[in-house]
Amino acid sequence: MIILGIETSCDETAAAIVENGTEILSNVVASSVELHKKTGGIIPEVAAREQIKCIIPVIQESMQLANGEWRMANGKTINYTPLAINQLDAIAVTVGPGLIGSLLVGVETARTLAYVWQKPIIPINHLQAHIYANFIREIRNPKSEIRNIFPAIGLVVSGGHTDLILIKTHGKIKWLGGTRDDAAGECFDKCARTLGLGYPGGPEIEAIASKFKIQNSKFEINLPRPMINQKNFDFSFSGLKTAVIRQTQNKLSEAKKAALAMEIQKAITDCLVGKTVRAIKKYPVKSILLSGGVAANTLLRETLKTKSQELGIQFFVPLRKFCTDNAAMIASCAFFNYKPIPWQRIKADPSLTVSDKI
Ligand code: KG4
Ligand code: ZN
Repeated sequence: MIILGIETSCDETAAAIVENGTEILSNVVASSVELHKKTGGIIPEVAAREQIKCIIPVIQESMQLANGEWRMANGKTINYTPLAINQLDAIAVTVGPGLIGSLLVGVETARTLAYVWQKPIIPINHLQAHIYANFIREIRNPKSEIRNIFPAIGLVVSGGHTDLILIKTHGKIKWLGGTRDDAAGECFDKCARTLGLGYPGGPEIEAIASKFKIQNSKFEINLPRPMINQKNFDFSFSGLKTAVIRQTQNKLSEAKKAALAMEIQKAITDCLVGKTVRAIKKYPVKSILLSGGVAANTLLRETLKTKSQELGIQFFVPLRKFCTDNAAMIASCAFFNYKPIPWQRIKADPSLTVSDKI
């Protein structure tokens, strides 16, 4: 089954063609991040106006690129029959959560195409789709099929959400806990702004922290790990941001900035990993599925990998480029949760939560 995925929940405009929920035939992402860098964050109307301009060319490019060659795991290439509209089985689109103006661009485009092309349309929850970034791959390799994953603990860490969930199987999600204030990505972004770094803040903090040398540890910065010892699955990151502001009242040397960036990463990672381990100890699961933009962070990826090895369970994390928003994960989610609805009924819902069914 070949599905066209469309994603416009935040500042990206993305379209992808995915076969059987796992093999990417094309994956196109147009980002307006350069515009948002100028303002240090996203201005919703600016994002939506850019998406209106990009959506048709992005979908067109995704269809054209799917007409290519297949690269096999053994390095050989085979010709792939060009993709025509009649080869497309369905259209999947993010309906929420996200910015309403941005969501509407994707939803209205998908609805129109579904009507004109007479294709089934599947509404997708963006947060659930992030988990499916773990299932997609660029190279056709049947042996790399991931099986025996569920039940799993999912940690979804993005710019707007931080949620810990129990995934019993596809579409069966129990919410265990989440942030009570800022999301982990938001905390990275706000701390970066405090340090005078660019947007988005996560990669900037990671880059500065990589300059941390052991001799910088003389600065002895100890940021709080809010709620880490509480017997629940919740997080709180706004206090961390306030503590960082306190550290930056005097001008920082480059070495101290690196030490602070490293401590920010460590504090956020400790909180995320601590509660994930608590969930694994409570629920007998087979795997951990990490996802969302913050999952691109190396310290978080490696710490959670080490913990899962210690606990003897499988650990999955998407390739870095699939951690941030893309449409391949939307098409994959639609394949594994195939519930088309009439195009007349599809509507954007900016306030969906991770466990909401559509
Ligand atoms: O999932 P995503 O692309 O968009 C949302 O759905 O929100 O996540 C974006 C977030 C931003 O807050 C960004 O700073 C963070 O992911 N992020 C990172 C890294 N790359 C992106 N955070 C930490 N380390 C990174 N390498
Ligand atoms: Zn996202």
